[in-house]
Amino acid sequence: MKKSVFTMSVVLVLSVLSWGIWAVAEEQSMTPAGKHEMKHEAAQFDDKGALMMPTKYREWVFVGAPVTPNDMNDGKAAFPEFHDVYIDRMSFADYKKTGKFRDGTVLVKELVSVGAKKAASGNGYFPGDFSGIAVAVKESKRFAKEPGNWAYFSFATGKMTADALPTASCNKCHKDNAAEDWVFSQYYPVLKAAKKK
Ligand code: HEC
Repeated sequence: MKKSVFTMSVVLVLSVLSWGIWAVAEEQSMTPAGKHEMKHEAAQFDDKGALMMPTKYREWVFVGAPVTPNDMNDGKAAFPEFHDVYIDRMSFADYKKTGKFRDGTVLVKELVSVGAKKAASGNGYFPGDFSGIAVAVKESKRFAKEPGNWAYFSFATGKMTADALPTASCNKCHKDNAAEDWVFSQYYPVLKAAKKK
């Protein structure tokens, strides 16, 4: 009897200890961006104010995939890839409730080259390889001077941080042409479906 109580206590102590070690390891293995996301903010900036590349955006909500292939643009499309667009989860949940992009919204546009133009299903444009990411962040304090408080970033290959691009390079076309608060939601069926009527 005594022996089994002793064994049980040992097992209990060991399990508590191993849980503790696991929790510490989990905490340490997390990237700064991952930790930040747990606090419900998807964008994280370094001390110089550059945006750190979001790391988990493929686990966010996928909203749409426009494509502007070269063949349909005289061989020189401005953005000749598929644009797989994601919104961070907190902002998506908020958008469903309010129909608005909350302060802190992050949209990632992952670029994917046009690969094959023929498949077993027929002729078309089929995704090739990942070729970069562009990001839009809405933050009223940090980007108080940007129209709509939206700042735009493009990550060069191999770079993990990016500075905000000049207003005229990105923000202006979005302001002039996007359906809703600088966002091209007219091309994102997932957002259209999520918006309350
Ligand atoms: C000439 C107009 C134009 C310019 C300039 C432009 N964009 Fe866009 N952008 C679009 C359109 C149209 C879409 C939606 C359709 C698509 O992806 O092709 C879009 C979508 C996006 C998205 C997805 C979220 C959203 O707002 O819909 C991001 C992120 C983005 N652009 C970043 C950038 C960045 C960074 C720059 C500057 C380097 C830039 N854009 C410049 C027209 C533009």
